[in-house]
Amino acid sequence: MNQEPSVYVTRLIPQAGLRMVQEVCDVRIWEEEMPPPKEVILQEVTRCEGLLCLLTDPVDAEVIAAGERLRVISQLAVGVDNVDLKVATEQGIPVGHTPGVLTEATADMTFSLLMAAARRIPEGIEKVRAGKWRTWEPMGLLGADVWEATLGIVGLGRIGTAVARRAQGFRMRVLYHDSACKPDLEAELGLEYVTLDDILAESDFVSLHCPLIPETHHLINEQALRRMKSTAVLVNAARGPVVDTDALVRALQEGWIARAALDVTDPEPIPADHPLVGLPNCIVVPHIASATVTARERMATMAAENLLAGLRGQRLPYCANPEVYR
Ligand code: DGY
Repeated sequence: MNQEPSVYVTRLIPQAGLRMVQEVCDVRIWEEEMPPPKEVILQEVTRCEGLLCLLTDPVDAEVIAAGERLRVISQLAVGVDNVDLKVATEQGIPVGHTPGVLTEATADMTFSLLMAAARRIPEGIEKVRAGKWRTWEPMGLLGADVWEATLGIVGLGRIGTAVARRAQGFRMRVLYHDSACKPDLEAELGLEYVTLDDILAESDFVSLHCPLIPETHHLINEQALRRMKSTAVLVNAARGPVVDTDALVRALQEGWIARAALDVTDPEPIPADHPLVGLPNCIVVPHIASATVTARERMATMAAENLLAGLRGQRLPYCANPEVYR
């Protein structure tokens, strides 16, 4: 790069990645806790060649059109549903993302949520804190067995596969549904490829790991929730809008399913007074599945690598729209 290219970073990110960018670029950073308003992004992209953004930023057709000098968009996340990939590709702008480095952290969180919901851990904590733990109860806070239960995985990508590996340790029967069957993984991990309907009807735990695309928007709607076992637990560490929130509230209130554990919600963030948040049979955490020190540092360095490659006119090492190179 002859001259320092101009880059806009939409939030403070781990130093490891930020430093890589600051060493060779002229960097402007939005340093507030809350994301920059869209008007700010619209204004900033008019003068930058590189945009390093987060999943909270709407990088839509309007933003991309305003970025007349943009040569690369680098997202600090694996999911890119906030970026209009089609428009970026049409404009010849590669979009980077961060697959792989958050797989294990996200699978750990998925399993934590699954176990916490199965064994009603938040309710137990709440009981102790409220001074309501009066004695050992033969029938208090009874939960569901995880050992040898049936787990249904919707979306057998990297994270879904990592969850399936963890399920092996619990001798679970693992069903999966994806756009295509994966015979190698079936053989390696003893998985069964079934329809979504079968996952819903047969699983004790349904765990969502599909990307948010038009086909998966409200995939888990009223009809799907009504197909699930009344004892089942729904875990969502994918994207909030994969689940129809209103239908989920009714499912939990009326006992169509037993419990839900959510790392992601729709809307996101979900207001504290939303009916879902107050339900004792629902656990909600604030989109923290990849929030380990290691995963976030690796995401930041990967996002920096993508950004710098794009600015140098090189192919992005981790590109979400590889068709841009055809
Ligand atoms: C992602 O990367 O898409 C996660 O949702 C946040 O790490």
